[in-house]
Amino acid sequence: MRVSLDEAVARLKNGEVVAIPTETVYGLAADASNDAALRQVYAVKQRPMDNPLIVHIADANQVPDWATEFPPLAQKLTQAFWPGPFTLVLPAKESVSRIVRGNQPTVALRVPSHPVALQLLKQSGLALAAPSANKFTQLSPTTAAHVSAGLGEQVAVLDGGACKVGIESTIVSVEGDDWRMLRLGMINEAAIEAVAGKPALEIQHNLTNDLPKVPGQHLLHYSPKTPIKLFESRPALVSFARTSPQKCAALLVGEIGNSNNLPGCNYVNLPVDAEKFAELLYSSLHALDNLGVELLLVELPPNAPEWLAILDRLGRAAHPK
Ligand code: TXA
Ligand code: MG
Repeated sequence: MRVSLDEAVARLKNGEVVAIPTETVYGLAADASNDAALRQVYAVKQRPMDNPLIVHIADANQVPDWATEFPPLAQKLTQAFWPGPFTLVLPAKESVSRIVRGNQPTVALRVPSHPVALQLLKQSGLALAAPSANKFTQLSPTTAAHVSAGLGEQVAVLDGGACKVGIESTIVSVEGDDWRMLRLGMINEAAIEAVAGKPALEIQHNLTNDLPKVPGQHLLHYSPKTPIKLFESRPALVSFARTSPQKCAALLVGEIGNSNNLPGCNYVNLPVDAEKFAELLYSSLHALDNLGVELLLVELPPNAPEWLAILDRLGRAAHPK
């Protein structure tokens, strides 16, 4: 069900959950100080309670309301990357709900850049806990229609159009003057390192076999229902498609060339441009997932810094169920 901005504000103040647009993906929002509302977020998502939520705030001045420290390094990073697809994990104040932080001693904070999200934060005066507005382990939504399809029409959705960044925010934790990369995103490690003036303490960008290092960042995140098979090269994908007895659809990187190459196989081809590719990735996977085929064939983009977050998501999406 679609709701207006005013109605979204009223519902959130009333302790209800509302799906909201952000520049990364749609979030399932609730008042971050209302435990009953937060419990509903976990219930609607069917998400384990030990998997903490990101708290969205209107500006960096609110950080001290949530965190016991806001070290100079963290301030530098927020000046560079807020508002935007960047989440900062800091030591939490004792007053921060244990539900929002999944019993962690830390809290994750983000100032989103989507104008509707910012307007909502300002108008409501609330801080909004918002994980991606999908069921646990499923593909994140980048349109209001994805939210309704995934969570049901009964969930209130504030429609802010299609998300521009398209994959979830980069998550960085800061302890004193050190930082760690907890989740890859479109703000890449090199950009953060340039602002921080030093490399990350510990790097996490294995594609498939890493154990969750961010609490709750399970390998099975971001999965369509249809199984995915990854291909390092186009010829390998094409020859597989031609001989596979299974009904397939494909996600390709760049020009299709001779479309006779993929007989009987629906495909989406995305541009060889990491930002545009990320913007369209989840909506393409949602669309391919809805075709009812047996297998999605995915051509991997180049293994280069600007593509690492995308490779990370594709690796997780392809992880066997
Ligand atoms: O782009 C985004 O970040 C989107 C939009 C809606 O803002 N949100 C999002 O939320 O991706 P979610 O819940 O799907 O992912 C949040 C991630 C989880 O992996 C969670 O474990 C981690 O953030 N996280 C949250 N609080 C944390 C904390 N205190 N310490 C470490 N990791 C935390
Ligand atoms: Mg999520």
